[in-house]
Amino acid sequence: MELKVQVGDVTAWKGDGIVVNLFDGVTTPSGATGAVDQALGGLLTKLIAQGDIKGKFGSATVVHTLDQLPAARVCVVGLGKENEFTLDRARSAAANGAKALRAAGAKNIATIVHGAGVGGLNAESAAQATAEGIVLGLWRFRKYHTSPDEVGAIDQVTLLENDAAKAKQVEAGAARGKIIADATNLARDMANEPGNAMTPTRMAEIAKEIAQKNGLEFYVIDRAKAKELGMGAFLAVAQGSDEPPAMIVLRYWGAGKDAAPGLGIIGKAITFDSGGISIKPSEGMQDMKGDMSGGAAAIAAMQAIAQLKPKINVTAMAAATENLPSGKAFKPGDILKASNGKTIEVISTDAEGRLVLADALVYATQTLKLSPVVDAATLTGAMVVALGNHRTGVFSNDQPLTDLLFKIGEETGEKNWAMPMDAEYAEQIKSDWADIKNSGGRPAGSITAAWFIRHFVGETPWAHLDIAGSVGLMGDAKEDGYKNKWGNGTPTRTFVHLALELAKR
Ligand code: BES
Ligand code: MN
Ligand code: ZN
Repeated sequence: MELKVQVGDVTAWKGDGIVVNLFDGVTTPSGATGAVDQALGGLLTKLIAQGDIKGKFGSATVVHTLDQLPAARVCVVGLGKENEFTLDRARSAAANGAKALRAAGAKNIATIVHGAGVGGLNAESAAQATAEGIVLGLWRFRKYHTSPDEVGAIDQVTLLENDAAKAKQVEAGAARGKIIADATNLARDMANEPGNAMTPTRMAEIAKEIAQKNGLEFYVIDRAKAKELGMGAFLAVAQGSDEPPAMIVLRYWGAGKDAAPGLGIIGKAITFDSGGISIKPSEGMQDMKGDMSGGAAAIAAMQAIAQLKPKINVTAMAAATENLPSGKAFKPGDILKASNGKTIEVISTDAEGRLVLADALVYATQTLKLSPVVDAATLTGAMVVALGNHRTGVFSNDQPLTDLLFKIGEETGEKNWAMPMDAEYAEQIKSDWADIKNSGGRPAGSITAAWFIRHFVGETPWAHLDIAGSVGLMGDAKEDGYKNKWGNGTPTRTFVHLALELAKR
C-alpha cells in the first residue's frame, strides 16, 4: 500500500472515496466536512439531522456523491465528543474510515488529517496517528487462503492537507506513522504464522533480514553457545524439541559504541507452547502458536527504531524455542541452573516463559549491561483473568520506568497498568529443593511469575509486560478500530516509543 501526502482540498480530490470526520453533537459540520457538505448541497447536514450520520465514536458512514464531487464516495467517521477526544481516537477513526471505504469497494482513498488543532494537538502528531490508524486498520493476514479476499484491498492512500504551511509537518508525521505501523504489522504477521512456519530458525532469519536491510548488528546464541554460557533454564525448555532454539540478538548503535549500552527490549518467543510434559488441554492449544508474540514485537520494533534513528543504543533479544513433550523433554521435579548460577525447581513445564526469559535477562543485564531493560511476554493465563484484553500488566522494580510506560500506553493506545510486586509475593516461589521454583500456584499467578523473572535482572531498572491478554490470543478479543482481534502486535509501538522517549533524556 502506498501512502502519500498532498496539499489540496478534499472537494477537489478525485478517486474512490474521501474520509472526513464529525464530532458527536455537531449538527452543522464545519471545516473539510463542511466543505464537502456544501458541495453536496447540504446532504450531510440533512443526514445528520435524520440520524443517518453520527458523530458517535466508532461510527463510519459511507455516502455516494453521485458525481457532485470528483470523489465517488465520502465516508464520515465519528470522533466522539470533542471534550473526550484523544490521539488514540484519531487513530481508530482513521482505521474505521479506511475500512468502511474498503468494504464499499474503494481501492484509492484520501483522508483529511484527524484531530489536528483539537485541544492543541499539532498537525504532525495528528498526521502520525492518522497514518498509523490506516496502515494498522487495513492489515489482513490472508497468506494461507487460496480463495480471493472478498474484503478487497486499498492500494493507495492520500493524506490531504489544505494548508501548504503545514505540509512538512504532515509529511513528517505520516512518514513516522507508516514506519511504526509497518513494524507493528510485521509483528502481527509473525505472530499469526503457524508454528510449523514460524520456528525459532525462521524468527532468526527475519531478524537477520531486518538487520541487513537496516544496518543492525545481528547474532544468534544457538544451542551449543547457550550451553557454553550456562543457560540451563533456556536449554531445558528447548531440550524436548527437535527444532533448534535461537536466542536472537539485534543491536542498534544510535548513540555510538562509546556511549552507554542503552535500552534492552527482550521478548519471550515460544514458537509453540504445548505445555511440555505438563501438557495443556487440547482445547484452544492452537492459540499457543502466538506464544512468541513478545519476541516478535522486540524484533519488529528494531526495524522501526533503525528507520527512525533515535540517538540511543538499543538491543533487542528474542528467546526463541518450542516447548514440546518428548523422551528428551525436561520434567516436573527437574532442577535447573540458570546462567547467573541460581537453581530452579521445575514445578510445571508449562511455566516455560519465565525460564527462557531468565537466561535472556541475565545475558541482557550482566553480559551486555543494558539498562533499562523491558521484557514482554505472553506469560500467564492469570493476566487475562486480571486485566482481560484491554490493558497490559506492568511489573517493575523502578517507578519512573513504570510511569513512563503508563504515559506511553495512553499515547499509543497500547494501554498499560501497574501491578503490585510486594516482597510477600516472592515467598510463594521459594523451593524446598532449589533457590526458587517456577510456579507459585494459582493465587496472584502473574505477580509470582514476575517475581521469578526479577531474580535475573539484579539491580537493573526493569519492567516486565505481561501481554497474555492484551496481545489478544484468547479468542474472545474483538476487532476494534485499528486493532485486529488476534495477535495484534502489542507492545511493538510501546517499545519504539520507549526508545524515542529515552533518546530525548
Ligand atoms: N503461554 C502461557 C500463558 C498464556 C495463556 C498466554 C493463555 C496467552 C494465553 C504460559 O506459558 C503458561 O502456560 N503459563 C501457565 C503458568 C502456570 C503453569 C504457572 C499458566 O498461566 O497457566
Ligand atoms: Mn506455558
Ligand atoms: Zn507459554
